[in-house]
Amino acid sequence: MLERLQKVLAAAGYASRRKCEQLILDGRVSVNGKLIRELGFKVDAGSDQIKVDHRPIVREQLVYLLLHKPRGVVTTVSDPQGRKTVMDLIQGDIKQRVFPVGRLDLDTSGLLLLTNDGKLANGLMHPKHEIHKTYLAKIEGRLSTAEAEQLRQGVLLEDGMTAPAQVAIRTGSAATTSLEITIHEGRNRQVRRMCEAVGHPVASLMRIQVAFLKLGQLPPGHFRQLSKQEVQRLYAETGI
Ligand code: URA
Repeated sequence: MLERLQKVLAAAGYASRRKCEQLILDGRVSVNGKLIRELGFKVDAGSDQIKVDHRPIVREQLVYLLLHKPRGVVTTVSDPQGRKTVMDLIQGDIKQRVFPVGRLDLDTSGLLLLTNDGKLANGLMHPKHEIHKTYLAKIEGRLSTAEAEQLRQGVLLEDGMTAPAQVAIRTGSAATTSLEITIHEGRNRQVRRMCEAVGHPVASLMRIQVAFLKLGQLPPGHFRQLSKQEVQRLYAETGI
């Protein structure tokens, strides 16, 4: 995540935001070996080398959280409309400034990663790494085998064809079908739009897996920290 240099310095405990601005103007701050005197300069605190007076700034400890986002909670750091955000669910327990890795719609529940590791977050979100995400979708009506095949092959949305997906029907009746769908793109409201495109609006949507990480039995609104091994495996999956 890119942030203003003075904000990152202030968060690392150097001084107030104002005084950090003065440090920059005084030419005491470098980023990746280059002296920066511009106040609008943006950095990634997770991956850029930031030094004050030639000394690296002390970084926040990296933290990796797996949250079960409930429906009705927004995936943003703050919400101008005052709605509950994913940050409200972790506040008090986590002192580092984490941010969500990608987003889930207001009405979607399920697995959401939060971290202050900008490098890993960018790796997971970059489309070229094709990180798989699995959703449990309850859709209106019965999904025919031909329609399931269409979802697998790709459907035409207003922003182009979708990449091949994996689709497994769990249960089906005339009124509703429950299916697991795995995609690796991250387009806006993609699963909802794909299902609608084959004639079956989504009634509820939950993300149950990202890469090898499963939501499991984690209750809505709860989170857990990832283990070292899980973080290493995520790095390996992104190939960064
Ligand atoms: N697809 C959707 O339609 N919504 C989400 O929140 C995630 C994927």
